[in-house]
Amino acid sequence: MAKILTLTLNPALDVTVSLDVLRAGHVNRAQAQHRHAAGKGLNVAQVLADLGHAITVGGFLGLDNPQSFEALIEHRGFTDCFIRVPGETRSNYKLVECDGRVTDINGQGLEVDEAAQNALLRRLEQVAVGHDAVVVAGSLPRGISPQWLRTLLLQLKEQGLKVALDTSGEALRVGLEAAPWLIKPNTEELGEVLGQPLTARADQRAAAVRLLAKGVGHVVLSQGEQGVSWFADNLALHALPPKVRVGSTVGAGDSLLAGMVHGLLQNEPPAQTLRRATAIAAQAVTQLGFGIHDREQLAQLEAGVQLTEEQEGCQ
Ligand SMILES: Nc1ncnc2c1ncn2[C@@H]1O[C@H](COP(=O)(O)OP(=O)(O)OP(=O)(O)O)[C@@H](O)[C@H]1O
Ligand SMILES: [Mg+2]
Repeated sequence: MAKILTLTLNPALDVTVSLDVLRAGHVNRAQAQHRHAAGKGLNVAQVLADLGHAITVGGFLGLDNPQSFEALIEHRGFTDCFIRVPGETRSNYKLVECDGRVTDINGQGLEVDEAAQNALLRRLEQVAVGHDAVVVAGSLPRGISPQWLRTLLLQLKEQGLKVALDTSGEALRVGLEAAPWLIKPNTEELGEVLGQPLTARADQRAAAVRLLAKGVGHVVLSQGEQGVSWFADNLALHALPPKVRVGSTVGAGDSLLAGMVHGLLQNEPPAQTLRRATAIAAQAVTQLGFGIHDREQLAQLEAGVQLTEEQEGCQ
């Protein structure tokens, strides 16, 4: 098994409040409230841990409310290299009504100053040594520029780690300049960055080919229930997940990413890598949380994934 670092630069406390009916402008009474530490890098870390890997987690955490994060890190046995910064890690509220309607209120998040940014780079100089790969996932907090992200990715690359990046917008655009080993945008995210819609398969492939030519190793392009296309050197595969009952799509992209990193680091055959990763993502969709708790269900989902070779001739 591998040693993997995941970085969550902008984590969040997810607070889910269940209500009968939300009445705006009135006092509402919650039926239940759950709070858990979240953030894309932490999600990926948990799925990778379920797959048997040794995990280090890092990024930035607010000094005022680290308890839920520290409890998760301790419970999962992760090595903690989060830099603590003044203030509160943001809270993202989900107000869930009994008819299933969900209202999101996302907090603003930490401001991360230059000293904290430098502290993370310096800590990683020591901590990243000996890791096989790093997954950098999620948005950037206030105070961090896309150019700093590029510096971070280049440093990790120079340290010999395989760098997987899952972000969007300007962070993805500038992050691509570091030519990551693997990227996992969805089609909208990559389309936005490249300035063209990527709905047609031919356009997706042409875009991926251009990125591969610039030094990106693996383009993993996800498209919700329509599945995922994976492009690499001499490889273009599409996976269609089996139809599943949707519990919550939270963590689907993170689960897919974890599955891909797992298969690649284990040197599994490409078809098996993509099949397993697609099944892990489909399983996440069936659950309220994510993670691999039911191996039998996972095997059934794997058997239901349809793999096809992408067609040639669209470059
Ligand atoms: N309804 C679904 N049924 C089966 N599999 C799904 C479904 N939705 C998503 N998936 C799987 O999860 C993968 C990732 O989903 P998606 O493309 O929505 O990621 P994303 O937009 O990055 O999501 P996230 O919000 O987690 O970042 C898909 O490629 C697919 O394999
Ligand atoms: Mg995503």
